[in-house]
Amino acid sequence: MKITKAVIPAAGLGTRVLPASKAVPKEMLNIVDKPAIQYLVEECAAAGITDILIITNRGKGIIEDHFDYAFELEENLKRNPAKKPLYDSVHAVADLANLYYVRQKETKGLGHAILAAEPFVGDEPFAILYGDDIIVSKTRPVIGQLIDAYETYGKCATGVKECSTEQVMKYCTLDVTPLEDRIYDVHKIIEKPEREQILSHFSILGRNVVTPEVFDLIRQTPPSPKTGEVYFSEALSWLAENGRLLAVDFEGKRYDMGDKLGIMQANCEVALDHPEIGERFRAYLKELAKTL
Ligand code: UTP
Repeated sequence: MKITKAVIPAAGLGTRVLPASKAVPKEMLNIVDKPAIQYLVEECAAAGITDILIITNRGKGIIEDHFDYAFELEENLKRNPAKKPLYDSVHAVADLANLYYVRQKETKGLGHAILAAEPFVGDEPFAILYGDDIIVSKTRPVIGQLIDAYETYGKCATGVKECSTEQVMKYCTLDVTPLEDRIYDVHKIIEKPEREQILSHFSILGRNVVTPEVFDLIRQTPPSPKTGEVYFSEALSWLAENGRLLAVDFEGKRYDMGDKLGIMQANCEVALDHPEIGERFRAYLKELAKTL
């Protein structure tokens, strides 16, 4: 079945980037000239996804405003022929996809947030993009790379990258066997492993293509006794242990917008490639480097 639906959980508290995320959702923090979440919606649209559900919570209404027409602003830009390209870019944001919203009324973890997508998803396979994981690909959009793997092998797919030992111990480790270049069968996932439990340096980073069976798996997942959150990784773990999960070592550079350093890295690297400011920014960095 063709994948046309995506879910973007964006209801986290963003505590790692406070105070920036106090009134502005971290998903709306900018990377050069676009809010982070626009990169995700563009990635979906470029991969053929037409319908996107964003899971929000209190105070995240500006996400809806961003993907709506801005009548007054657009009329103003339209009146000035020199601002036509600006008008086009602002107007086009609202037409990237059909956007839907639902609120996660209590912040009870990523698994709990994804459960709110069940009525939207129905009985179709769907994509999940974590709201603070921005991945810039120079080839095919990363979610498209996962959709290709799903369509080829008929199994759920999760996006992975080789990470440092420190990161693996913070995220997770995967037991895998290769199927073809960049695609692996996953047999086991260990969350936040101790150093001696590390199975490989592959960790899961922000992209999944799954079937609706994950909703029952999430419902069977008890909240973590430590944090009270319902983790989504338990559902992925079950898929892995039952031979139903692929890992796709995607082509793309991932930035963690839930982390202060990640935000700076995203802004620097995207700015270097930006058609309007790239050259001047590179010159500025070279000058700056002399003073370091
Ligand atoms: P994170 O764990 O990175 O988000 O979840 P967080 O809770 O905002 O992070 P910190 O630790 O407080 O800084 C990954 C994604 O899942 C969403 C987040 O918005 C983020 O995009 N999420 C997380 C939810 O939608 N609901 C939740 O209850 C938790």
